[in-house]
Amino acid sequence: MKQTVENNEQISVIGSGLMGHGIAQIFALHGHAVRLYDLKQEFLDRAVQSVRDNLAVFAAHGIISAEDASRAPARITCTLNLEEAAEDADFIIEAVPENMALKQDIFRRLDSMSKPSAVLSSNTSVMSITEIASASVHKERIIGTHFWNPPYLIPLVEVVQTEDSAPEVIRFAMDILRRAGKNPIHCRKDVPGFVANRMQHALWREALYIVEQGITDFATVDEAVRLSFGMRLPHLGPMENADMVGLDLTLAIHDYILPHLCDSHTGSPLLRARVAAGKLGFKSGRGLRSWTAEESAASHDALREYLLDIAERKAGKNESFPLTSA
Ligand SMILES: NC(=O)c1ccc[n+]([C@@H]2O[C@H](COP(=O)([O-])OP(=O)(O)OC[C@H]3O[C@@H](n4cnc5c(N)ncnc54)[C@H](O)[C@@H]3O)[C@@H](O)[C@H]2O)c1
Repeated sequence: MKQTVENNEQISVIGSGLMGHGIAQIFALHGHAVRLYDLKQEFLDRAVQSVRDNLAVFAAHGIISAEDASRAPARITCTLNLEEAAEDADFIIEAVPENMALKQDIFRRLDSMSKPSAVLSSNTSVMSITEIASASVHKERIIGTHFWNPPYLIPLVEVVQTEDSAPEVIRFAMDILRRAGKNPIHCRKDVPGFVANRMQHALWREALYIVEQGITDFATVDEAVRLSFGMRLPHLGPMENADMVGLDLTLAIHDYILPHLCDSHTGSPLLRARVAAGKLGFKSGRGLRSWTAEESAASHDALREYLLDIAERKAGKNESFPLTSA
């Protein structure tokens, strides 16, 4: 399958919600024409307004120029017609709700409506790309591109290969994502959790287990992570860390400690009990601890400011953001 490599590919994003509008923003900012599809005009209007608002914040932080912030939204055109979204697109990214039947149906339709050279990807967080593609004919051009939220501030995108994906489709996705300022990684197997979520949830399982075992409380678990290895993680992944520590010592520690760690294959009983009691976290005002509306808003704001600060510093150093357009 021949793919263009210039920075002028037509992008389509299917679903303009939390992830879809952010993905559209990334490509529009990097000079691509983007078509955004959803079921209602009001959803599309809200999405484009969110892009404008996000870019204004970027400009205020000096991450992009005011000129780029005002030019990029005009590259996004909205449609309520899936065929129109599909027909000219070189790269179609699906970001509709996490529902297998819905995703299968959308890919089946996109497969028949799009041009043969188009690459089709799903932004699913957890679902099998192989299963999503199962109702489509041209499975070789269907892959996963798992962006993280918010997609315009978190650099990683997991590019997920299935047994059917053609190698040139993976190369195309890696290349176009790099040119859009992202850091794509190649996940060579279509496995649950891809790469990063497997590690995130392994940590989460152990964190809950530590509290279940009465070793310490929730707040102390978070403090222990944030003020120890969490501080190193942006600079030192576990593989480099193993080499730094020495593989002999790492092995000795693992042989000693692993039998004591949680290896449950089901969700935590503690989590299950909270959910059964309607204690769902920010959205119900009580989860692992209680949250006022102000506290949960402050937590969201603090995370966003932290991520914006990283983007600002990277833009200043001309590192993998600049998010400036072509
Ligand atoms: N929210 C996250 O943190 C996150 C992170 C990574 C990946 N994802 C994945 O991204 C995908 C989208 O998640 P989201 O959080 O943006 O959801 P969302 O609910 O915010 O947005 C989904 C959008 O899809 C639209 N939609 C629904 N049915 C549709 C249809 N038939 N055709 C076209 N559009 C339709 C909705 O109107 C809505 O605008 C999901 O697969 C999700 O698992 C989410």
